[in-house]
Amino acid sequence: MAADRYQLWGGCFDEEPSGVLRRLNDSLAVDSRLYKEDIINSKAWANELHISGHLSNEDNHCIQKGLEQVEKDIEEELLQNQRLKDPEEDIHSVVERRLQQIAGDAALRLHTARSRNDQSATDTKLWMTTALQRIQLEVLKLIKVLVHRADREIDVIAPSYTHLQRAQPVRWSHFLLSYAWMLREDVLRLEEQRDRLSTCPLGSGAVAGCALQINRERLAEQLGFKRVTPNSMFAVSSRDHIVEFLNWASLCGIHLSRLAEDLIVYSTQEFAIVRHSDQFSTGSSLMPQKRNPDGLELVRGAAGLLMGDAFSFGCVLKGLPSTYNKDLQSDKEILFRSYDRLTDCLKVATGTVSTMQVDSKRALECLDPGMLATDLAHYLVRRGMPFRRAHHVVGAALRRASALGVDLQSLPHQEYVKICPEFGSAEDLQALFSWEASVEQYSSTGGTARLAVRDQILQLKQWLQQYSNAC
Ligand code: ARG
Repeated sequence: MAADRYQLWGGCFDEEPSGVLRRLNDSLAVDSRLYKEDIINSKAWANELHISGHLSNEDNHCIQKGLEQVEKDIEEELLQNQRLKDPEEDIHSVVERRLQQIAGDAALRLHTARSRNDQSATDTKLWMTTALQRIQLEVLKLIKVLVHRADREIDVIAPSYTHLQRAQPVRWSHFLLSYAWMLREDVLRLEEQRDRLSTCPLGSGAVAGCALQINRERLAEQLGFKRVTPNSMFAVSSRDHIVEFLNWASLCGIHLSRLAEDLIVYSTQEFAIVRHSDQFSTGSSLMPQKRNPDGLELVRGAAGLLMGDAFSFGCVLKGLPSTYNKDLQSDKEILFRSYDRLTDCLKVATGTVSTMQVDSKRALECLDPGMLATDLAHYLVRRGMPFRRAHHVVGAALRRASALGVDLQSLPHQEYVKICPEFGSAEDLQALFSWEASVEQYSSTGGTARLAVRDQILQLKQWLQQYSNAC
């Protein structure tokens, strides 16, 4: 073993590992992020060894005190230097070497019956337990901002699009809430995952389990897990919780990318329904007039990177022989990267949505009477006409209006009657050309009428209530 490097293995080796293998193998730059979890893990492990009669009171005391000191030291160093300068290969070796310097030989008993395989799997799950809560909070904040805006802007009527072609007028709030509902499902999915995650692998050893009598349930409870893994080989080989999270992050990223795309399109000069704040826009080095939605573009692009991470980790796992293989070490790099990326994207989305301005006048200008063609067909349906026929009749009216160079509202009444005598009086027809009246027809659950939108807002607010302490 190199004198300057504390290594947890190597007793039967004559030579040092080559420099290039060390570089490929060393994971400290990534897993030092788990130092707190590693120390929590070690403290609980030492306690369990002690309670089960495998570690003296004195040694346990030295280990507990020593680990507290190690935690403080690492915390300070990370604050000062952003990274640890220790020569060891990973955070587990760093913690053990530092502990030995403080606690002496007691530290040599800490790893009793434990392997880095169950240790690192446990550390990662502990980290994820907090991380999933944090990221859930970020999703909740975005939902809250969307619901808040929807509440305030319920009077704003805007165009909706299918195929990015003008479709029907809707309340702007209805559009905002469509994303709030989408993101709510992300929260529900995350909660299911958090429950599955709460299964403790510690006590599984390298592969076969723990040779000393310990109480794994008590240990798991100390660490805040709900249950223990039922099979040691499964415990050290499974990274399914990471796969689940990466796929969850991809889907959430996809949702954000769609929101981003809508808000990018709506902020172009051609639409100009939305204006993004200075805080969430960027300029051009050449064109002084530019106000670019770079933040949203980065959010849109991030979805691709998140999907790539989920896919690449699946490729790492595919075909691995059972239990631990070093391929698994890349789990943390991908996990942290996706987590950080999605967290930033959620924050940018929340910031953008909460600070953008919506131009309600411009939203109305983007509407045109042709968007009421469906309402016109429904009007004929209410007068007894089968919908398919009504659809064709209104199509004929649109064709006629286009031939005369007018819109549906300006098409003279006699033209309507010529196309179909079942079009009623001029007054009845004119009454249809109101944006407000149009949206108010869509009053059944999930529609865009005021009461239906109010109902959505209420439901979402009530649902958010359970998290009111968190956000
Ligand atoms: N750094 C390793 C990882 O995260 C720790 C486990 C090492 N185990 C081993 N058998 N070499 O995967």
